[in-house]
Amino acid sequence: MRVTPSTCELVALVSVLGMAWTLPMDPYLLSGEEELPPGTDGDQDRYLWEEEHIFQQPQLPVEGSADHEDGGQADEKPDLLGREAKPHDLPTCLLCICLHGSVYCDDHKLKTIPPLPKDTAYFYARHNNIRTIRKADFAGYDQLKRIDVSNNAIEEVEEDTFTQLPALSDVLLADNSLTVLPGLPNTVTHLDLRKNHLTSDGIEAEAFKDMENLNFLYLSDNNLDFVPVPLPDSLKVLHLQNNNIQHLQDDTFCNPKDLHYFRKGLEDIRLDGNPINLSNSADAYTCLPRIPTGRF
Ligand SMILES: *[C@@H]1O[C@H](CO)[C@@H](O)[C@H](O)[C@H]1NC(C)=O
Repeated sequence: MRVTPSTCELVALVSVLGMAWTLPMDPYLLSGEEELPPGTDGDQDRYLWEEEHIFQQPQLPVEGSADHEDGGQADEKPDLLGREAKPHDLPTCLLCICLHGSVYCDDHKLKTIPPLPKDTAYFYARHNNIRTIRKADFAGYDQLKRIDVSNNAIEEVEEDTFTQLPALSDVLLADNSLTVLPGLPNTVTHLDLRKNHLTSDGIEAEAFKDMENLNFLYLSDNNLDFVPVPLPDSLKVLHLQNNNIQHLQDDTFCNPKDLHYFRKGLEDIRLDGNPINLSNSADAYTCLPRIPTGRF
C-alpha cells in the first residue's frame, strides 16, 4: 500500500517549515542566547533559569554521600578551582574574579580566606571582614607572590602562615588590628602594616635583620616606641610616621664604628607625627643620603 501524505500531515509540515523560517527573528536567538523554555517569561524567571543553566555550580560531594561510599569517584575529579573538591568549599571563582593566576575578592563581606585555585600568584581580598588568617589558608600555594588583605579586621595571623610560602614578595596588611608582627620569609620585598595596633613588644628582636630583599617597609599609624633595628641594607623606604618614637640611637641607621658605611638606598624615612625632636640626634643621620622627615 502506498503511503501518501494526508492534508493534515502537509499542514503540519508547512507549519514546521514556517516556524523554522521565523526562528531567526526570535530576539533571544539574535542575541546569541538559547530560547527560554515555555512558561518562563519575565526577567526574574529568565534570571533564575540562567543561574541554573549557565552558571553551573561545581558539584560538591556531600559528606557520607553514595559517591564516597562506592570508591570515592567524585574525589578523583578536580572541581572548578582545579583542586580536590572538599565539602563546604566556596565556589571562589564564581564569587570572585579569577584571571591568569590573580584572584580578586575585594568587597565581598568575607569572614575567612576562601579556598583558592592552586596556581594563585596574586590574591586580593581588600575591604572584607576577615579576622584571622590560618596557616592552612595558604598551605601549598607555592606560586603565591602577593597577598593583599588591606582593610579587614585581622587580629591574628597563625604562626608560619607566610614563612611557608617560597615566592611571597608582597604582604599588604594595612588597615587591620594586628598587635604582633607576623613571621615573614626573607623573599618579602614590600611589607605594608600601616594603620594597625603594632607595639614594639609585638615585634621580635632583629625581626627585619635577615630580610635582605626588603625594599618598602610601611609601619606608620601604629604604637611603636622605637625603630625596629637592625634594618636591612636593601631598604629604600621606611615609613614610621604617627607612632610613639621618642629617641634615635647613633646606630639606628648608621654604623658609628665604620665611618665609611653609607646607606645609599634609604632615601625616604618618615618620622613626623612622633614625639621625637630630630635636632637632638644629628649623629644618627651621617650615613643617610637624606635626613628623615619630622620635627626639628
Ligand atoms: C628641638 O630641639 C631643639 C634643640 O634642642 C630646639 O631648639 C627646638 O626648638 C626643638 N624643636 C621643637 C619642635 O621642640
